[in-house]
Amino acid sequence: MQKPISEVFGINAPATVTVEVRDIQHNLIPRQKPEYIFRRELLSDLLAWVKGAAGNDPLYLTGPTGSGKSSIIEQTASRLGIPLYVVSCHERMEIPELFGRFVVKNGQMEWTDGPLVAGLKDPGGAWILLDEVDTLDPGTFTGLNGILEGRSIIIPETGETLDPLIYGARIVVAGNTAGNGDDTGIYQATKRQNAASMGRFMMVEVGYATPVEEKQVLSIACPDVPPIIGDNMVKVAGMVRDLYTAGEIEVVFCTRSLIRWAHLAQFYKAKPGINPLVYALDRALGFRAEETSRNALHELVQRVFGND
Ligand SMILES: Nc1ncnc2c1ncn2[C@@H]1O[C@H](COP(=O)(O)OP(=O)(O)O)[C@@H](O)[C@H]1O
Ligand SMILES: [Mg+2]
Repeated sequence: MQKPISEVFGINAPATVTVEVRDIQHNLIPRQKPEYIFRRELLSDLLAWVKGAAGNDPLYLTGPTGSGKSSIIEQTASRLGIPLYVVSCHERMEIPELFGRFVVKNGQMEWTDGPLVAGLKDPGGAWILLDEVDTLDPGTFTGLNGILEGRSIIIPETGETLDPLIYGARIVVAGNTAGNGDDTGIYQATKRQNAASMGRFMMVEVGYATPVEEKQVLSIACPDVPPIIGDNMVKVAGMVRDLYTAGEIEVVFCTRSLIRWAHLAQFYKAKPGINPLVYALDRALGFRAEETSRNALHELVQRVFGND
């Protein structure tokens, strides 16, 4: 059924702009998170892909950790009624883990589809999210090329022919890098991927939410935190990101750690003898930093919030 995107995603948009929402029951349709806020620009890119702007091409979301890559896919699938298969990729993953393998069941060898093949064969027309895809060995990634192009493949072990487009499944991958590896050392285990693999995707860059978006996320995720405090927390997060980008500190706020800071500050606000904002900041982020950086974080908080 076509529904206005303003209604489906809770954003401002003309009622004439609609999207297909399915009315099916499936245990892999993600649960809706009421505190999730759809970011307009990001959603608009994603809906272009949903509506076929890139044909059947798979989607590659690239961006720093905690910027909202996995959650936008999950929450969009939830609102559109699309079953979602999520696969967490890793360095030692090999094709059988994705496609399937023989396992022993009741003393017999039985074939079990891997999550990628199970998703492609799901009559519900699923999305398959290969998360942290850039940690895959490039050889494994290359082994997916046929499927990424929508070509039928034969599963060697079973001889089964699989047409990846038969039920309208779509593949999304997410990674901290855009397949170029990582020279900074922040994203250990990511690898430079084969150019031929990378050329198959529609690319979308997911940066951190803007201050306006992040204030909105905080006000919904932590409604007990007063808006003025929340606004200042967002300001600190922005300054921390600037310091991080300039290479001056080694830890950075993501939306997840920002929400954690707000929750902890609220929790510790009545604890005597401490500054709850600083105390909570250490527990949300600061204890991962070296001492000089931690002191710099404390100073930022003092500067933005003042001394009382
Ligand atoms: N738009 C948003 N609204 C609410 N929470 C968000 C939003 N974006 C990110 N978050 C929070 O930040 C966390 C990290 O997002 P996630 O999608 O896991 O990041 P990534 O996959 O890019 O590392 C989520 O679990 C969620 O708690
Ligand atoms: Mg993720």
